[in-house]
Amino acid sequence: MSVLIKGGRVVTAADSTVADVFIEGERISLIGASLDVDADRVIDATGKLVLPGAIDPHTHLDMPFGGTVTIDDVTSGQTAAAFGGTTCHVDFCIQGQGQSFAEALAGWHEKREGKAIIDNGFHIAVTDLTDGGTLEELATLPEQGITSYKLFMAYQGALMVDDETLFRTMQVAAETGALVMVHAENGDAIDVLVREALAAGNTAPRYHALTRPPELEGEATNRAIQLARIAGAPLYVVHVTCKNAVDAIRTARDQNWAVWGETCTQYFFTDITDLDEPDFGGAKYVFSPPVRDKSNQSVLWDAVRTDVLSAISTDHCAFLLDGQKTMGKDDFSKIPNGAPGLEDRLKMIHHFGVNEGRITLNRMVDLLSTSPAKLFGLYPRKGTIAPGSDADIVIFDPNRKTIISAMTQHSKSDYNLYEGTEVTGDVDVTLIRGTVVVEDGVLQVEPGFGQFVERAKFGEQLL
Ligand code: URP
Ligand code: ZN
Ligand code: ZN
Repeated sequence: MSVLIKGGRVVTAADSTVADVFIEGERISLIGASLDVDADRVIDATGKLVLPGAIDPHTHLDMPFGGTVTIDDVTSGQTAAAFGGTTCHVDFCIQGQGQSFAEALAGWHEKREGKAIIDNGFHIAVTDLTDGGTLEELATLPEQGITSYKLFMAYQGALMVDDETLFRTMQVAAETGALVMVHAENGDAIDVLVREALAAGNTAPRYHALTRPPELEGEATNRAIQLARIAGAPLYVVHVTCKNAVDAIRTARDQNWAVWGETCTQYFFTDITDLDEPDFGGAKYVFSPPVRDKSNQSVLWDAVRTDVLSAISTDHCAFLLDGQKTMGKDDFSKIPNGAPGLEDRLKMIHHFGVNEGRITLNRMVDLLSTSPAKLFGLYPRKGTIAPGSDADIVIFDPNRKTIISAMTQHSKSDYNLYEGTEVTGDVDVTLIRGTVVVEDGVLQVEPGFGQFVERAKFGEQLL
């Protein structure tokens, strides 16, 4: 099967040119002006943007968390992703207590078997390291294409690890070519503040943010940076929300340390006042790190523009407001942490980032696709439009207006953080490995189409 995408503006992290893209089988074979080739299918992209498929390095599908399980399984979460122009993501496989990594991975592979719509890889979330057991096993994972180790410095009593586990994992990563990822908040201090708040009768959603102050994100970010330096491991700080953490990452990057960070779509558009939405509506905005003072939003835009932060993910961790978030009606600490967002990232960043002049189109492509591909061992197979790359392509209409709503989204969540927001620019067609996956507002493939991707080691290429 061959496809010719004609006359669109092909945008990569570096270039923007009107050109045709010729796809043979699963990969791009030619890019050029007015290509004279025969194709089985021709897609007219005149007036449209032709973008590399977006890559989401941070998602939680079908994950047990906070006393429940995230509402999007692999099929619904990845369908939402495909409609939003995301063609590949890296999900977190969580090691249970006492579990080997092989057991954890077998469980996560089972969740996607026969259900996948788009391509994905796994990070391994380390929760339990044992000498002579999982510590040794951890070193074998990069050879299996699991090339990033995630550690939670928060969620005491659940996913949190101590500094010894964090540091020893970093030492393994330094040897094996894995990238270390951290959720950077000081979980011990947060736990004290949560207990104090509840003892004082402060149970409303706003106390979720008040018990997780930005200083505790800044402290944990800096701690992780210093530990990674000593261990000699590359570090990626997930879901950065505030100036305190941005400053720590900037300091590290100014000195060329191997430190990168991401923020997530929601932190540009939500703030601490949202937690006071009436009728328990504030629970929609309970995720961690929490929504911050609005002043942090411009700090984050500056950070993504100047490459202090190198990626924008979604941290898609969807729950129902009615039935799951309501578990915390009388106690904010029982509200499952997380929010949906897989479908909205490209539209929101295109409209408020590019259309409103905060970042260039090339920078958007870098943040949503190329940079995550490079950091997470997917490049140049994915993350760009080039001969030899997978034909993971989004044909994006930059002029089509759309209103974001839970009524029309593909996530199973019953709310959308950006409800009622009108944006200019939407996905027309999503192709993955040369196959049209979304077109005319209809999913065109069956569950099982998406493939598992064994990623390259940190700094190496996936060809
Ligand atoms: O609140 C969040 N972010 N839930 C997902 C788990 C995590 O910390 O990334
Ligand atoms: Zn986290
Ligand atoms: Zn997350």
